Amino acid sequence: MAEAYIIDAVRTPVGRRNGGLSGEHPADIGAHAIKGLIDRTGIDPSAVDDCIMGCLDTVGPQSFDVARTAWLAAGLPESIPGVTIDRQCGSSQQAVSFAAMGVMAGVQDLVVAGGLQNMSMIPIQSSGSVMDHALIGHPEIADPLTTSKGWTARYGDQEISQFRGAELIAEKWGFSREDLERFALESHERAARAQDEGRFDNEILPYGEISQDEGVRRGGTLEKMAQLKALRPGGVITAGVASQISDGAAALLIAGERAVKDHGLEPRARIHHISVRGDDPIYMLLGPIAATKYALEKSGMAIDDIDLFECNEAFAPVPMAWMAECAVPSEKVNVNGGAIALGHPLGATGARLMTTLLNELERTGGRYGLQTMCEGGGQANVTIIEVLR
Ligand SMILES: CC(C)(COP(=O)(O)OP(=O)(O)OC[C@H]1O[C@@H](n2cnc3c(N)ncnc32)[C@H](O)[C@@H]1OP(=O)(O)O)[C@@H](O)C(=O)NCCC(=O)NCCS
Repeated sequence: MAEAYIIDAVRTPVGRRNGGLSGEHPADIGAHAIKGLIDRTGIDPSAVDDCIMGCLDTVGPQSFDVARTAWLAAGLPESIPGVTIDRQCGSSQQAVSFAAMGVMAGVQDLVVAGGLQNMSMIPIQSSGSVMDHALIGHPEIADPLTTSKGWTARYGDQEISQFRGAELIAEKWGFSREDLERFALESHERAARAQDEGRFDNEILPYGEISQDEGVRRGGTLEKMAQLKALRPGGVITAGVASQISDGAAALLIAGERAVKDHGLEPRARIHHISVRGDDPIYMLLGPIAATKYALEKSGMAIDDIDLFECNEAFAPVPMAWMAECAVPSEKVNVNGGAIALGHPLGATGARLMTTLLNELERTGGRYGLQTMCEGGGQANVTIIEVLR
């Protein structure tokens, strides 16, 4: 099969809720990453075959194929199209996979893939809201899951939510609230160290005055975290162990061998493996476990073959259960912090993780990196990249 290469990867700083990016139109946030990528690679934008961007809650300014809007907002040629995709939190990891597939199949040569999200402007789960349905005259089908006959026959009418999933995972693996808080505190500490050492400098394209991820807390303590109110009575999940509401975008240039040759490009990495698997939708956030086991088996690799991992910190119990089940050492996981500290701008996070993984592999001289993320519906993507320089 033909190879798919990562030529470059960039991202905006991740803005905290109501922070520096919150007033920016999501298409402009996406445009910032896309234009920055085109400028930095020096590629002729009219040679790009497509622009695939992940984005959830595609209502208001995120509606109407916002990938296309972002491309045009970046001042790029009208002849190049854009497509917006939704695989929940894994949308932009999936965007990169789709780009790689097009290139591997020989159908496309050069694809921009990434994601964008402004969660300050468009709250999480807006597109599934009662209001959307009510506005178009269907208040009775407000909840897309528990009103499906097939779904309720299979799963009943129990609550389906990421917050419940996170609690169920913590309970099943026996993680105490303090276990989760220790993990979360370390995420902030790792992120602060990465900022101090300039580890994000090659990947962040400053947005106006903002040049750093805004969610990182310094000087946090377990004592302070222990005072936070649990999101549910008797639960262990608090704001401190959850990913943050954030705004941001990231973009990668994916190329095939022909494009590398024709445009004189120097790939930074190749995409070694892509897959996606499903798991229990009630636990919702367990997908990375089954998906990682599947990916390793399919690629013939072992945990020890991988130098660094990114497993999205949707909630602390997710990477913790994944590390336990897949026997992944914590020193190799989210070494520069994760979504608990850096934020989780839903549609952009997959491409943000891959951008960070690539840079950190290069910085540390690693070869293989594995990225996985939990996704709504109980799904997870896995991508294994191999660094080439
Ligand atoms: C968990 C969640 C509901 C919390 O929302 P929130 O209450 O508005 O969160 P905030 O960031 O304002 O934090 C609440 C408080 O905790 C404090 N806090 C958060 N993390 C802290 C930490 N590590 N140490 C000390 N205090 C902390 C905040 O300062 C804030 O305090 P304040 O009220 O005095 O200002 C929200 O972040 C969320 O929905 N996250 C998950 C998003 C999601 O589902 N993504 C998809 C994944 S599947």
